[in-house]
Amino acid sequence: MSKGVTGKIALITGANSGMGKASTAILADMGYHVVMLCRDETRGRAAYDEITRVGGRMVDLMLCDLGDMGSIRGFVRNFRERFDRLDVLINNAGVITLDRRETADGLELQFGVNHIGHFMLTTSLLDLLERSGSGRIVVYSSGAHKMGKVHFDDINLRRRYSVIRSYGQSKLANLYFARELARRLRERGSSITVNACHPGAVATQMGVDRNTGFGKTVVRMMRPFFQTPEQGCRTAIYLATSEEVANLSGEYFYKCKVARTSRRSRDMEAARRLFDISEAICQRTVVEG
Ligand SMILES: NC(=O)c1ccc[n+]([C@@H]2O[C@H](COP(=O)([O-])OP(=O)(O)OC[C@H]3O[C@@H](n4cnc5c(N)ncnc54)[C@H](OP(=O)(O)O)[C@@H]3O)[C@@H](O)[C@H]2O)c1
Repeated sequence: MSKGVTGKIALITGANSGMGKASTAILADMGYHVVMLCRDETRGRAAYDEITRVGGRMVDLMLCDLGDMGSIRGFVRNFRERFDRLDVLINNAGVITLDRRETADGLELQFGVNHIGHFMLTTSLLDLLERSGSGRIVVYSSGAHKMGKVHFDDINLRRRYSVIRSYGQSKLANLYFARELARRLRERGSSITVNACHPGAVATQMGVDRNTGFGKTVVRMMRPFFQTPEQGCRTAIYLATSEEVANLSGEYFYKCKVARTSRRSRDMEAARRLFDISEAICQRTVVEG
């Protein structure tokens, strides 16, 4: 189908809610053909209907659970059947849970979805991003990476779990991924750029349990003090579209500016080690899947 698409193509993960939904509308209004990657058909369809109520927006809805390698492989196959290039990939989807949960493949959920799911998706689409000639990858990290450490000896946090340990690990992993992927792409002379961002504090559905609604009241109470999703996604949109950053890669942005990150996040040996482990995890699930 991209054979028939003349404009730029953007893929946004977690596009039915919060900043993913806001970014879908903004990029569609800028003329991008936006593919919304959503895990739940009902929530995805509701967001798609809301977004396409405004005429002229070119938007597709495609289903994928980033916590299920089989689902990601199926998504990539479908995507390739419809599109032969990709200009912008925004790795926006994220999950945060108080209790320890696992993905379909037995990975700790936040590490599995926030990092590994996106690792698998991104590395499976690199050739399509390359074909764009100016492919851009935007990775949502968070200021919470500063509380994080990658627990190489217990990466699935089986021995000691806490929401902070887990979310912090996953958001530091996002930042390591952006830095190490940028390094590897640069090394092989690729034109693809990859940058990470922190959106600030944003009133979204983050932390709200989708089944029970637990956490909704807190989000409602915090709303007046937090940014709207449209304000929160500004840095990601800037990284995805601005000429100012067309040649920048491997950086971390906050408020559309390069920002300081934790000392640990600059440990490129750890970034390289995580990349290799992530590759091995993805390969293992291919063999098992
Ligand atoms: N909000 C903040 O203050 C803040 C601060 C720093 C960083 N961030 C980061 O910003 C990003 C966007 O989050 P948000 O605040 O906009 O939260 P949100 O409203 O909760 O949106 C998260 C999105 O991720 C999707 N998602 C969760 N698990 C998934 C899976 N297994 N497969 C596919 N999609 C999945 C959700 O789908 P469902 O609706 O179907 O669950 C939803 O569309 C996240 O990466 C988050 O870590 C947010």
